[in-house]
Amino acid sequence: MSESMNRRDAMGIAFGACAAVGGVFALAGMKKAWDPLPSVKAAGTTVVDISKAEPNVLYTEKWRGKPIFIVKKTAEMVAASSEDVKKRDVIIGSDHYMICIGLCTHLGCIPSYDPKNATNNEAFLCACHGATYNQSGINTKAPAPLPMLIPEFKIADGQIIIGEAGPEYEKMKAAGVLGATPLKA
Ligand code: FES
Repeated sequence: MSESMNRRDAMGIAFGACAAVGGVFALAGMKKAWDPLPSVKAAGTTVVDISKAEPNVLYTEKWRGKPIFIVKKTAEMVAASSEDVKKRDVIIGSDHYMICIGLCTHLGCIPSYDPKNATNNEAFLCACHGATYNQSGINTKAPAPLPMLIPEFKIADGQIIIGEAGPEYEKMKAAGVLGATPLKA
């Protein structure tokens, strides 16, 4: 836990540095990605109403100063994922969602999402140094060393509570797919 928190803290610091120095690309990506769903922020949590989410659209919420990426997967996207990759999916009913902290694991820039690349290894591109990630946020091209991190989350009444660890999060943690270690795309 402390290791992941330290990592998140470091990524937050790196994000600040990247936004200040790398500026143009990061901010352009952030503007494009900053499309929120209805949400409520309170006491360190962000409650997101995902019932309004359209498939294969990137939504970005804010949680503790960090961007949270949410993508509702299409049936085609789910079919294109391996069983291991699907372990990172947040499943509500029959719908699969990708949820992760939207910070590149290289130096913390904000990757952009290209729906046209949803089923290949370049769904996310970090313009700062060219790293890519697949639809599940797993790094597919250097220099990103790790998948984008899945934050603590809980599912309640069809909504996602970011910042609280529910059983689905604990299951991912036990499976080692949160992003603290390398994963196969
Ligand atoms: S910060 Fe993303 S590739 Fe360097």
